Amino acid sequence: SSDDEGGEEYLFKIVIIGDSAVGKSNLLTRYARNEFNLHSKATIGVEFQTQSLEIDGKEVKAQIWDTAGQERFRAVTSAYYRGAVGALIVYDISRRTTFDSVGRWLDELKTHSDTTVARILVGNKCDLENIRDVSIEEGKNLAEAEGLFFMETSALDSTNVKKAFEIVIREIY
Ligand code: GTP
Ligand code: MG
Repeated sequence: SSDDEGGEEYLFKIVIIGDSAVGKSNLLTRYARNEFNLHSKATIGVEFQTQSLEIDGKEVKAQIWDTAGQERFRAVTSAYYRGAVGALIVYDISRRTTFDSVGRWLDELKTHSDTTVARILVGNKCDLENIRDVSIEEGKNLAEAEGLFFMETSALDSTNVKKAFEIVIREIY
């Protein structure tokens, strides 16, 4: 579509997936609104935020979707993934069970989306170094084996949050 100046506009749908409480919603609010909530409630259904950025002088809009990690609170799976061109698969570096679930999330993504989806594996809560349960090396190795980008982030202290989203957005663009 074209805007008033006749330039191009891009709208990309990106989904965030991963177990409950890994920090998906806080990554999104940190990125889109620079907000963090220490006592955020589990997401019910689906929420999304749109974030604009400029790449090579073009306005790019990322429509970023966030859903519940808990099965009972999730929206219709196929609708959630429909049209997605990017995905963040998130685990919590202080809880190994969330890392063990990554394979299942990748399978679901593969089942419901195009093979060309740009994907990044995100190890969130890297501020919790003192209770780390998954090494950086393990994260990197899994990402490499699955052909994903990789980054550790902290929605709490903002480490790499912008970078993680923008790696995916730039890859799509
Ligand atoms: P569901 O909506 O249930 O799927 O969970 P979620 O993945 O959206 O997690 P949410 O963002 O609600 O965060 C869960 C808890 O982890 C909250 O108490 C957050 O404050 C906390 N949290 C999120 N990101 C970080 C982080 O980077 N570091 C630390 N220390 N805590 C975080
Ligand atoms: Mg949530």
